[in-house]
Amino acid sequence: MTSEDQGPAGIDTSVAHPARRYDYWLGGTVNFAADRASGDAIAAAFPRTRTAAVENRKFLRRAVSWLHAAGIRQFLDVGTGIPGAGNVHEVAPDSAVVYVDNDPIVLRYASPLMTRRTTYLEGDLRSPSSILSRAPLDFDRPVGLLLLSVLHFVEDRDSPYAHVAELVDALAPGSYLALTHGTVDHQTPAELEAMAPIMASTPGQFRSHAEVSRFFDGLSLVPPGLVSISDWQPSEPSEPAGSSEPAGPPEALRPTPAEVAMWGGIGAKP
Ligand SMILES: C[S@@+](CC[C@H](N)C(=O)[O-])C[C@H]1O[C@@H](n2cnc3c(N)ncnc32)[C@H](O)[C@@H]1O
Repeated sequence: MTSEDQGPAGIDTSVAHPARRYDYWLGGTVNFAADRASGDAIAAAFPRTRTAAVENRKFLRRAVSWLHAAGIRQFLDVGTGIPGAGNVHEVAPDSAVVYVDNDPIVLRYASPLMTRRTTYLEGDLRSPSSILSRAPLDFDRPVGLLLLSVLHFVEDRDSPYAHVAELVDALAPGSYLALTHGTVDHQTPAELEAMAPIMASTPGQFRSHAEVSRFFDGLSLVPPGLVSISDWQPSEPSEPAGSSEPAGPPEALRPTPAEVAMWGGIGAKP
């Protein structure tokens, strides 16, 4: 879309939004001038931003494959983003998938993909009860809850830990939480200084490994635990057996934790 585009009626495209900025980094077409300007400013401060976005999508596909191989047939994907290649319903086509996002433009572009099994809801991670009450899933059976690259948009003052706990509490035993989260754990002081202005003007909050670990309280992390997203089950066949995800690149060719700057993992609900 060009900068002249106004966007769909009723959608304010004059202010950058994470869904459209992420779409821009991934090479999508559902983004506008404000999103691209914001995306370029962040990428200038953190040049590996696009690498992180691509690696996050790869994690999504590996994680969903792993969950599917573990028997999960229901997915709740909160902060799903504008539909792109390799969405959950494509990786797990025989499963019920509920996509949730708080940007109305996501619903606009996602509607054509809705099927009997795939549903989109406009909803906010900060209102778990409103998501749970509308999601057409069987909460007596295990669910794969996906919170991928979304929790860093929820600042501590908005109680992210309580919201995640409320979502996890609603899930049956045998459910899983898959989560990725931006971090500056690996950034040098000089890099942090360069990033400071953009971080101050962009809503959200990076978290440390220890802080991200807290989202898994009460859950057991599956191997290899909470790690850099590129290092989460990258090359070995996914366990349990049966995953269709092809072997990943050898370690030397994978982006380093500092380049990706995102922690990710899957926790099992006992
Ligand atoms: C970086 S994208 C991640 C998309 C997808 N989960 C992935 O990992 O590829 C973040 C998405 O979270 C959405 N988002 C941000 N804050 C949210 C909130 N409080 N509730 C629901 N969605 C939110 C944004 O609109 C955006 O689509």
